[in-house]
Amino acid sequence: MNRIPQHVAIIMDGNGRWAKEKGQARLFGHATGVEAVREALTAASEVKVKYLTLYAFSTENWNRPKEEVDGLMDLLVKTISSELESLNNNDVRLLSIGNMAELPAACREELQLAIEKTKNNAGTVLILALNYSSKSEIKTAIKQIAQRYKNGEITLDQITDDLVSNHLYTAGIPDPELMIRTSGEIRISNFLLWQLAYSELHFTSKFWPDFKKEDFYQAIYEYQQRERRFGKVSEQVQP
Ligand code: IPE
Ligand code: IPE
Ligand code: MG
Repeated sequence: MNRIPQHVAIIMDGNGRWAKEKGQARLFGHATGVEAVREALTAASEVKVKYLTLYAFSTENWNRPKEEVDGLMDLLVKTISSELESLNNNDVRLLSIGNMAELPAACREELQLAIEKTKNNAGTVLILALNYSSKSEIKTAIKQIAQRYKNGEITLDQITDDLVSNHLYTAGIPDPELMIRTSGEIRISNFLLWQLAYSELHFTSKFWPDFKKEDFYQAIYEYQQRERRFGKVSEQVQP
């Protein structure tokens, strides 16, 4: 318990394949994936992980068949609304990262309402990455910083790591110490490219709907066995 990451990020992957294995439609996999979200969130709260970021929809996911995209948006609206009470009962604060302006109005409004209604909660912060693209996030930051430079508000020397971080959606949130991806895929898929620069990565072959609290604890346990050297040598970082 003395080396719990402050921030864990998860690429929730494998809903479609999980459903296919069971002879079901992909949307059934997404719906069942909501249970795994509850498992991960409960586990994170129990061990006092402060920030839990979940990759729920990428900008690339718009390219899926319309039926699936519509189903996902519908599921999102229903889930945010049905879980609001439980979020409040568990002192969870909801935030989102990504381009909210491009989401369907119903989805954006439900999300804004839940963010507003949970804003005073002091427990775990649940960050939903929705319509999220890390490259877009970085590109937007570059444009904002360039504009500030052009306006004479900052000098080139003032463009530091912290300044860049403060122009990302995740401004003010510490970088994840641990990133988990389910379903056996070993890639980042345009997720938190800047923020994951020194994160420990954990890949599991389990499909997301099968993810349980124990899997979250397992990932944390493995994280705790890792030696994080940040470029130094082992002798320098040993306690
Ligand atoms: C992750 O599961 C959920 C989203 C990307 C929305 P997938 O839908 O990607 O499931 P697979 O990877 O096709 O099995
Ligand atoms: C990444 O999963 C996005 C989310 C989990 C929301 P994908 O299933 O879309 O990723 P790729 O395209 O297989 O890399
Ligand atoms: Mg996938």
